[in-house]
Amino acid sequence: MKDIELKIPRHIGVIMDGNGRWAKAQGKPRVFGHKAGMDAIERTAIYAQKLGVEVLTVYAFSTENWSRPLDEVKFIMSLPIDFYKRFVPVLNRENIRIGMIGARSGVPDATLKAIDRAMMDTARNTGMLLNFALNYGGRQEILSAIKKLSADGKDLSELTEEEFSSQLTTANLPDPDLIIRTSGELRLSNFMPWQTAYAELYFTELLWPDFDEAALDTAIAAFRARDRRYGGVKL
Ligand code: FPP
Repeated sequence: MKDIELKIPRHIGVIMDGNGRWAKAQGKPRVFGHKAGMDAIERTAIYAQKLGVEVLTVYAFSTENWSRPLDEVKFIMSLPIDFYKRFVPVLNRENIRIGMIGARSGVPDATLKAIDRAMMDTARNTGMLLNFALNYGGRQEILSAIKKLSADGKDLSELTEEEFSSQLTTANLPDPDLIIRTSGELRLSNFMPWQTAYAELYFTELLWPDFDEAALDTAIAAFRARDRRYGGVKL
């Protein structure tokens, strides 16, 4: 029993993909898929918390997503406003905290305000952290960290991995153990390139709005079957 408990990933990162295709398959506009994607976040977060996952990071908007049609960008940025109003009572009931990683600059004020309010209103919860990667880009995050260290006058020739990690927006979070990407795409798309060095990768053909409790069970079962050696050998 103990062994099984130990095999629950502490931190799961999800690259939610396929919202647009899901909507198109039903003859609906793309934004309909993003709305259904929010419901998938809700059920996945509630179930992950029940399983004992400590951090669930969802890739909500990448630094590259700004190149999407303006209407779609505006819609995605409005999602937190609706979502948090409806979701905060659920999060408080489920003991889940909200967090955000990514660059704040460029994100509309109303979006940030909704996220900040949700973070404040759930800050006392002691269970899982539901972390939104919003306006997030891994390479940009690495560059910002280097620039900050350099501006602080840090001697970079002495820099350790721990010091560097502490400058990233994921400071204080465990590295992801498992990355899930939906919709059959097989890439990481600038999602935590530093932090995923030893993560197990899991890809599923399911489109994100169809992701559910059973799909998370399947992903975790695949994770449990992996042999994590971190570059060493098993004796
Ligand atoms: C990919 O589907 C999904 C996204 C770009 C994420 C949409 C974001 C959410 C559902 C959450 C938003 C939450 C916050 C806090 C802003 P896609 O559009 O790339 O699908 P496709 O590959 O089928 O076109």
